[in-house]
Amino acid sequence: MARKTSTDKPSIQTNVVVSGNRPTGDLHLGHLNGALKNWLQLQRKYGCFFFVADWHALTTEYADPSGIHESTKSMVLDWLAVGLDPDTSVIFRQSDVPEHAELHLLFSMIVPVPWLERVPTYKEQQEQLEGRDLSTYGFLGYPLLQAADILVYKGDRVPVGEDQLPHVELTREVARRFNRLYGEVFPEPRGEVVRIAKIPGTDGRKMSKSYGNTVSLGDDPDTVYSKLSKMVTDPRRARRTDPGDPADCPTFKLHEVYCTDAEKAEVTEGCKSASIGCLDCKKIMIKHVVEELEPIRSARLDLEKRKGVVTEVLEAGRDKARKVAASTLSDVRSAVGI
Ligand code: TRP
Ligand code: SF4
Repeated sequence: MARKTSTDKPSIQTNVVVSGNRPTGDLHLGHLNGALKNWLQLQRKYGCFFFVADWHALTTEYADPSGIHESTKSMVLDWLAVGLDPDTSVIFRQSDVPEHAELHLLFSMIVPVPWLERVPTYKEQQEQLEGRDLSTYGFLGYPLLQAADILVYKGDRVPVGEDQLPHVELTREVARRFNRLYGEVFPEPRGEVVRIAKIPGTDGRKMSKSYGNTVSLGDDPDTVYSKLSKMVTDPRRARRTDPGDPADCPTFKLHEVYCTDAEKAEVTEGCKSASIGCLDCKKIMIKHVVEELEPIRSARLDLEKRKGVVTEVLEAGRDKARKVAASTLSDVRSAVGI
């Protein structure tokens, strides 16, 4: 038999998809293109667990958790509106499944603190989110809780943004250490990053609620138009007669995602020769964005009318998730012998 190498597939392959998102309020085009469209594809092929990571939100919002509940509801509505299907995927809230916390505790026994201290997001976030005290035990354990989220479903495909890859890598190390100590229980999950053009916000920075530069999934056509028509462009086009270059234009990143090849060629030519103005150029793209958002917005309005729909979905999801999680925990307890 061939010698095992580090590139060998892990012995347990489950094709279980696990991903979560912290409840941060209204979802926007960045979420739609960066995560949700990919989740919809995965939902057609695999068993998927999609959850609202409200405990993860608490690691940074513990001093004022008042928004977490509303944001959770809003996020579930957005998920349903884009087409996540609670009959196909398990859609739930992390804090409804206490097995995540139990597994996190057991992992905390075997994971050396330096593994957590060297996760790049730890220091980065502490620096970025200045003004709050993130020297807490819970914040240090953020990626370990994430490992528990994934492994409690024996997940092995984890669709995430690039910034989350170190957390998936830590998850693999935790799975390996657990399996070595107590026997093979967990697969070693793979992080799967979708390579799409990053969607910039209207100011050209990363689209993010904290920058106030988003186009939300629930924005009506007038709002979308007014936000995107003011979006920053190639600064060389200060006057209508100045030529520019789409390569240096944040708005064109949206054209890349939304426009046809013919449209892209047309505006590229028009931009470089100054034969079109930025507003004309933007209108071509805005039309597609509105076309994409309209059905989502109308689905969301319908869902909002159905009282209790979020509670119903979350309760059904909780029950399905807990069944799987309880079965893993029973394997885990007998492996540890406790
Ligand atoms: N940390 C992730 C984020 O900020 C959210 C998350 C929590 C997650 N648990 C997870 C993602 C498990 C994938 C799998 O985006
Ligand atoms: Fe950007 Fe279009 Fe203006 Fe060129 S014409 S700078 S691509 S918005």
